[in-house]
Amino acid sequence: MGNAIEVVDLEKSFSDHKVIDGINFNVASGNIFALLGTNGSGKTTTVKMMTTLLKPDKGEIKIDGLDVLTQIGEVQSEFSLTGQFAAVDEVLTGRENLVLIAKLRHLTDYKQKVDELLTEFDLQEAADRPTQTYSGGMRRKLDLAMSLIGAPRILFLDEPTTGLDPQARATLWQMIRSLKKAGVTIFLTTQYLEEAEQLADTVAILNRGKIALQGTVAEVKKHLPKETLELTFADEETLARAAELVGGKVNHEELSLVVTTNNEVARITAVLAQLQEANITILTFTQKQSTLDDVFFYIVGDQGEGEK
Ligand SMILES: Nc1ncnc2c1ncn2[C@@H]1O[C@H](COP(=O)(O)OP(=O)(O)OP(=O)(O)O)[C@@H](O)[C@H]1O
Ligand SMILES: [Mg+2]
Repeated sequence: MGNAIEVVDLEKSFSDHKVIDGINFNVASGNIFALLGTNGSGKTTTVKMMTTLLKPDKGEIKIDGLDVLTQIGEVQSEFSLTGQFAAVDEVLTGRENLVLIAKLRHLTDYKQKVDELLTEFDLQEAADRPTQTYSGGMRRKLDLAMSLIGAPRILFLDEPTTGLDPQARATLWQMIRSLKKAGVTIFLTTQYLEEAEQLADTVAILNRGKIALQGTVAEVKKHLPKETLELTFADEETLARAAELVGGKVNHEELSLVVTTNNEVARITAVLAQLQEANITILTFTQKQSTLDDVFFYIVGDQGEGEK
């Protein structure tokens, strides 16, 4: 099994702002690769360079062995792209948008496929209305359906589920899984770590222009064990006293405190003993394994409440 995508020493600046500062990764044929990063970290910039929409300053990109910079025409027929912002024609109906793409791709037998996609994305009812009457989520779904019409071998999805309701998100995840089963290679960007955890064979975390960490979800998590202890209390006052004493991240809604323990027995014991000595009653305590979220926030810097 070879690589469907190869990226070597990629760099891109906008005036004097170096957005991508030498990134490297491969996507094995038939795998799902998720690029993670905060707003403005360069995910869309990377996708655009990989899909011939933006010229890199430096580096090499190969799609199915074809050079994206010099073999543009050939490369463009290898993949399909769903950009971050819906690219549907407002005047046409949903169905007409799909048919248009089918015709642009020189497909002949597309009627059934168009119907299937409209049904799968729950757009049958709205299919014959102009898309200017669609909600944001409906446009997003149509946009995704449009990129699936030609049965692409490689699919680029830039934040495919942003703005979708939970049901539509679940539908899309299901579709992505079945595309993978059919042998399609998928490169996606996402802000939802759960999405990466659910779908991706390999993830990469983009931070300050570089890839801070990449590997399978399991490998990435192993890299940073950060197990925590979650304690809950009866009321806000007890919670506040506990937080004052042992630190950690406070969740006011759940009246809970999350303390990093790195799974060290000594640390867990010390926290519990400290609370007991101060006569603070703990309602429940649970040990929590680190998630991809923990790893992500560790790397990009916790921009939330932060630990004390
Ligand atoms: N054409 C451009 N001209 C100047 N700066 C740009 C241009 N395109 C992107 N940038 C800058 O490059 C950085 C990365 O943008 P990019 O859109 O790639 O981020 P992103 O990771 O996709 O963010 P988001 O999660 O918000 O979609 C940002 O600081 C952005 O302002
Ligand atoms: Mg983006």
